Amino acid sequence: MKTIKIFAPATVANLGCGFDVAGMAIDGTGDIIEVGVEEGEGIEISNRSEVPLPDDIESNVATPAVRALLAAYGKEVAVRITILKKILPGSGIGSSAASSAGAVWGLNEVLGRPFSPERLVEFAMEGESLIGGGARHADNVAPAILGGVVLIRGYEPLDIVRLPIPDNFYAAVVHPHITVTTREGRGVLPREIPLKTATTQWGNVGGLVAGLALGDMALVGRSMKDAVAEPVRKRFIPGYDSLHDALFAAGALGVNIAGSGPAVFAVCDTLAGAEKLCEVMAAHFAALEIPADTYSSKISGEGARVI
Ligand code: HSE
Repeated sequence: MKTIKIFAPATVANLGCGFDVAGMAIDGTGDIIEVGVEEGEGIEISNRSEVPLPDDIESNVATPAVRALLAAYGKEVAVRITILKKILPGSGIGSSAASSAGAVWGLNEVLGRPFSPERLVEFAMEGESLIGGGARHADNVAPAILGGVVLIRGYEPLDIVRLPIPDNFYAAVVHPHITVTTREGRGVLPREIPLKTATTQWGNVGGLVAGLALGDMALVGRSMKDAVAEPVRKRFIPGYDSLHDALFAAGALGVNIAGSGPAVFAVCDTLAGAEKLCEVMAAHFAALEIPADTYSSKISGEGARVI
């Protein structure tokens, strides 16, 4: 059996204003996925993580992603996947995306790279659809596969834009050990938004893209606001408002919920600044007696890769 080992990074989706259309890879943590193929057919998935994953392969996000790739490949092979999860499910930093991204990246490598990275994003989105209650969003899988900061300009057809990454773009992320599933996080969202809210939101999305292109981290930070999801999702994160204010007081340029939460991210323009923001995050959850992990990271252009 030909096997390969892949690192798939954690990701922050939405970046505040860009619900379902913007995301970035963070290098501090990620999953390790081993993929093997041989003649035959069928998918086997084993879990070497400390956290339980669904026993039934139909409930594992890697399964629909791998099936989508095999359907496009047009030839049956037997696929064995071993998952070592470092990103806890329900954390908000792209746990499911890392599994599906790592699985399709690894399978593409062992098959001799029949597909482009952009095509792999489409396959990996099938995994997101499984856990998102049918919502096919790419704002975690695209950065997990491509790395860096990405904009999904459109879904039909999928149009992914890799955005420039300012040299001084740093992020701090905290993952409090409470679980919010993507389904829960999406369930509370408004189905319709007032025009005024939409205007605020698209102004910020434009500001985010312009800030990245201009290398203006202050503009990036002040555009990471969210008038749609943050107001209804923050209830899942204990003390969110006070954490938000403490992070700005400690020098954050932007703060918001990572994906559907409960992880929270903050951005700034130095590594020392990001480390300080991590301390504020850790102190916040320690005071609430909620165990939490923090990561500080320069935003790099690297996505899924062979290790
Ligand atoms: N854009 C998705 C959401 C990301 O906010 O529901 C899920 O991690």
